[in-house]
Amino acid sequence: MRKYIIAGNWKMNLTLEEGYGLASEIKWMVADEVNNNIEIVIIPSYIHLSGIQNLLKDSSIKLGAQNCHHKNSGAYTGEISPAALANIGIKYVIIGHSERRQYNGETNEILAEKINAAIENGLTPIYCFGETLWERENNLELTINECQVREGLFHLTEDQIKKVVLAYEPVWAIGTGKTATSAQAQQMHSFVRELLKEKYNKETAESISILYGGSMKPENAKELLSCPDIDGGLIGGAALESRSFVEIVKSV
Ligand code: 13P
Repeated sequence: MRKYIIAGNWKMNLTLEEGYGLASEIKWMVADEVNNNIEIVIIPSYIHLSGIQNLLKDSSIKLGAQNCHHKNSGAYTGEISPAALANIGIKYVIIGHSERRQYNGETNEILAEKINAAIENGLTPIYCFGETLWERENNLELTINECQVREGLFHLTEDQIKKVVLAYEPVWAIGTGKTATSAQAQQMHSFVRELLKEKYNKETAESISILYGGSMKPENAKELLSCPDIDGGLIGGAALESRSFVEIVKSV
């Protein structure tokens, strides 16, 4: 019922030429992948979006942005409008990545507004949540993740929540080479799906994709992606190399 989503978050990496090169390689390498149950998404920096979109126009690979503002226009120097992203045909937008929570002070409150703006513009938000190492070591991971999910998303109607993709990204596993074990990841995904079930209903909860992110790589992707509540991956480092990204796509 749920589609697998394999999304590569390039973060603040790659020059324009490198980005075009990587997108072209991925495009050719997945051309024979006829698995209609996988959505492949590339999330480069903003300045690559139009060029890569052009390059991917005869491909089923979708594009996403790494963030957006909560207003459609106005005097917000340096920000990116969700309406402008939708206008050029971008499908996904990451909201609430831990790096933005940490370095840009994004709170659940502001993220809830960004979620609204994304949905109003027809973008699919990929809403990230995850605990820090300190929070896990102090057994706070369920509380923290519940709070991030409730405060960021639970104001949405049932129709709206169905348009959201969630991504569990334990902060201690991002870029560190430490992956959550499949048991740890599955436990958190199933916990969040239960929250969705309680707030909405079973059918809605079962229809929502929950991705895992944090040092996902070809060596661990198969095990993680075979867990019943893990519906794909949000991949950082391993998405910067065509071979490893495509290997992950092929492990679904
Ligand atoms: P890594 O795969 O590099 O750990 O990054 C994960 C991530 O933050 C994806 O958004």
